Amino acid sequence: VAPLNMCGCDSQDSVEQKTRVQTAFEGEPVTINCTYSTTDSFPYLFWYQQEIKGYPRYMLKKFPGSGEVDKQFEGRFDANLNTSTTSVPLMIKNLRVSDSAVYYCALRPTVTETHSTLTQKPCK
Ligand SMILES: *[C@@H]1O[C@H](CO)[C@@H](O)[C@H](O)[C@H]1NC(C)=O
Ligand SMILES: *[C@@H]1O[C@H](CO)[C@@H](O)[C@H](O)[C@H]1NC(C)=O
Repeated sequence: VAPLNMCGCDSQDSVEQKTRVQTAFEGEPVTINCTYSTTDSFPYLFWYQQEIKGYPRYMLKKFPGSGEVDKQFEGRFDANLNTSTTSVPLMIKNLRVSDSAVYYCALRPTVTETHSTLTQKPCK
């Protein structure tokens, strides 16, 4: 997957995923990092999953003190918004082969977003 960066025009707001391609083992927990930068003191962070040839699917959103995980991602997927480290790492428990996808982190209200690609090895 070629690196793709959709960038909002508000230069104050940005998100960054340093690791572009991440490989993990089936059954293991995985953390996909995302850091953000905003002047908004109450940021909303979103994660989306895009499977090969699929459309990005909304996974979850986080804002200070709360958040919401979409029903189809409940259980194994969550993110931890930390406003002091301005990060919102996505955590996947008990990784499945079907989790191989591109994961987008986005900051509202801009359209700024970035992504990491998760690939897997079926066994050690
Ligand atoms: C994610 O961020 C943490 C803390 O900065 C770091 O220790 C870890 O190596 C990062 N993981 C990846 C896959 O970049
Ligand atoms: C945010 O990160 C800081 C520094 O790593 C840590 O001390 C704090 O407990 C974290 N807060 C949350 C809510 O995870």
